[in-house]
Formats: sequence, structure tokens, C-alpha cells
Amino acid sequence: MRAMICSNVMLRVAQKNSCRWLSSSSAAAIEDLPLQFLRASDPANFDKDTFQRKDVVFDKSSGKPLITSTLKTPFMREYSLHGESYKVVWDDGVVSEYQRSWVKKQLDLWGKSDIQRVMWNDLTEDRVRTSKDLSMGFEEVLTSNGQAKALKALYQYGILLVTNTPIDDRCSGSVATVASALGGGAKKDDTSVLNNYLKGQNYDRLEGVVDGPLRTLYGTVWSTSTSDQSAGASTADSAYGNESLPLHTDMTYIRDPPGLQIFTMVRPATTGGESLFGDGFAAAEKLRSVDPTSFRVLSELPRRYRCVDRVSGWHLEASGPVIALNYGRVVGIRHNDLDRLPDLPPEGVEDVDEFYKTVNRAHQAWDKILASDDIRLILRLQAGETAIVANQRCFHGRLGFSLDGYSSRVIKGCYVSQDEFESRLRWEGYHV
Ligand SMILES: [Fe+2]
Repeated sequence: MRAMICSNVMLRVAQKNSCRWLSSSSAAAIEDLPLQFLRASDPANFDKDTFQRKDVVFDKSSGKPLITSTLKTPFMREYSLHGESYKVVWDDGVVSEYQRSWVKKQLDLWGKSDIQRVMWNDLTEDRVRTSKDLSMGFEEVLTSNGQAKALKALYQYGILLVTNTPIDDRCSGSVATVASALGGGAKKDDTSVLNNYLKGQNYDRLEGVVDGPLRTLYGTVWSTSTSDQSAGASTADSAYGNESLPLHTDMTYIRDPPGLQIFTMVRPATTGGESLFGDGFAAAEKLRSVDPTSFRVLSELPRRYRCVDRVSGWHLEASGPVIALNYGRVVGIRHNDLDRLPDLPPEGVEDVDEFYKTVNRAHQAWDKILASDDIRLILRLQAGETAIVANQRCFHGRLGFSLDGYSSRVIKGCYVSQDEFESRLRWEGYHV
């Protein structure tokens, strides 16, 4: 084995598949990736225009896959770092090149990211407003650096406060533009809400654009003022009243609830109406530590959720556990008791009475955590302030408010799909 270190070039000759740089000054870690993955990820294996794989072998006529893969582990003969790109020579003579930034991103995606989620409680309004991580201006969110910063906050904390959102006649456009900035989609042509906004064109019912808000039964950009709601959009939800709303996540009654929820305060209530938020992941971890049996029940038992709108005709139902796990890690929260249907014991349950006792005990333990003051973040959103939450993690709710005049408290908002939100996080290198 030998290594050569030059001014801008580092060369490593490998005898086996595992090896280490001799220079500790290098943060390079291409060798930490599986060689099978690295070889398959050779940029030459991907079409330059479609980015689809070219190394998949199948019969061109029938489409049937051809079995050609070998179980032989690829062997890296040598690799070197030239500025910002690696050059790898394989034992069969193939030479592959990889961008250093790409290597780092793959390591992050593989779960080696330095940035971890932050579980929070005891979070205060003052801390949110003064935090450089949790609060930023509307104009900043529209920049590429601002988007990265916002996504980092939403990955780490699941919540972000955006100030100075335009709420004049551009309000719907402002809300949709934030969704476009933090969602997927084209960002470089006139099919992008964000790009149109930056060029001075306002959002108009999403005609001709391909990104931005998720379309749901509530339309695209919704308003809690029924007079401002899109024609035909549903208002069959307690959000359109003035009573308090317990902490919940939205649209539990669809299989994959929205990933982001964007709330822009247009007009605060004169009295009451403060916004509530809570970290569902922190609540789940708290339950896991204080009552593992209840945690297991809420992470294994599918609960049923429903939304019915007699006026518009919508009827949606879905089911899923309150706490979604992936290899033991909490990855999602589905919780809205107002939309949850009574439980039915799963097939095979013999002691029905014991089933209900166990489920009720688990849900009471969960409610006890959600009722504690330390999990409730109360924000007094002012006109033009936008709260964004990761809907499959962060609860939201509100305190009751008095109706002194028609629609005294008005919020406009929209959703971003979980697919688009997760894609953005993955592209930023986060492990989701
Ligand atoms: Fe809600």
C-alpha cells in the first residue's frame, strides 16, 4: 500500500476494499461508502438527459429483465482526489469520477449526517423570535440559501417562523410562493410559482404552473374566512369556527398527510386565538420513556380517521398508527381526535374488553403528555407572520377567540406534500 499527497492531489492505492487516508487533514470519505454502491453510481451509468439508469439490462423487445448481475465485490484499484472530484480506477480498468459534494451527500443520506433532529419542549415564543435558526424573513426564504436554512429548521425542529409576509392583495401569492420555495418542482421557468413571483407576477389559482401548494379538498391556498375560500372548497372543519383546537396534525384521513403546513396570519383575533404548536416526536419519545407499553400500542395499532363534507360531497377515510416507526425510529405522527373514528379490535383479538382497556390506557398516557404545559408552544402571530410546521411531526392548534365582527381572525395557508418536502430534505442531504 502506498499513498502520495501533493498540493492539490491526493492519491491512494488500495490493496483491499477497506483503506484509510494517511493524511488526517482530509475530510474525504469516499472509502466509507460501499464499493457496490459506488460502482453502480458511476455517473456513466446514468443518462445525461433523463438521469435514468443505463446499466439496467433487459430484452429490448419483450422488456423482460436479463440476469447478468454478479455477486463479485467490486475492487477499487486506486483513487485520487483532484480538487473537488474523485477519480477511481477499478480492477477491470473502468475509471469513474465522482464529485466530492456528491460523496458527502451520499454519506449524509446513509445516516451519517452531522445534523440531527432536535426534540423540543419548553420552547417559548421569545426564543423562537430571537433564534437565528427558527425565525427568518419572507424575502430570505425565497433565496436559495434561505430555502436551505428553512429546510434545515424544518428538518431539525419541525417548525419555522417567517416574518414580513406580504398580506395585501398578494397574500395568496405569498403563501403559494413559500410552498413553491420549500417544495419540489421547476424553479427556472414560468411554470414555477416562485419564479413567477420573483418576476413580479402574482399567483392566480395555479393555472399554468406545476409546483406550489398541494391541492386538497380545501383547494390550494385556503382561508379561514369562508368568504375568502375558493369556490367549492370545503369548510367542513372545526378550523372554520372560533373554539379552541386541541393539538393535532392535519389530514389524518388521507393515507399520506401533507408534509408541510403553512399558516399566514392575515388578521389576528382581538381577544384570544393564539396559535399552539408542539413537537410530536418529542411527545412520542417521552411516551416511550415513561410508558413503553402504551408507546408500543400507539405505534402498532392502526387507528381510523374520517372527513365528511355533506355540502361538497367529500368523504375521505384512512388509517394508521398514531406513532409511525421506521426500524424503531419515530418518523411520523398521525393525531387528530376530532377526526378519529372509534376503534374496532383487529381480527383475532379474543379479549375485547381487555383490548379497549389497553387502548384507552395508552391514549390517556398520550393525552397526559399533550396536556402538559411544557409541550405547548404558544405563538401570538401578528399580521404578516407565517408559521410553517412539518405536519407529520409538529402538532398545531389554537386557543379560542371571541367573534367581534365577522371572521375576526383570518389565516391563509396551504400544504406542501410529504413527497415534495421529503425530496427536498433528501436533496439537502438529510436522513429522513
Ligand atoms: Fe389543523
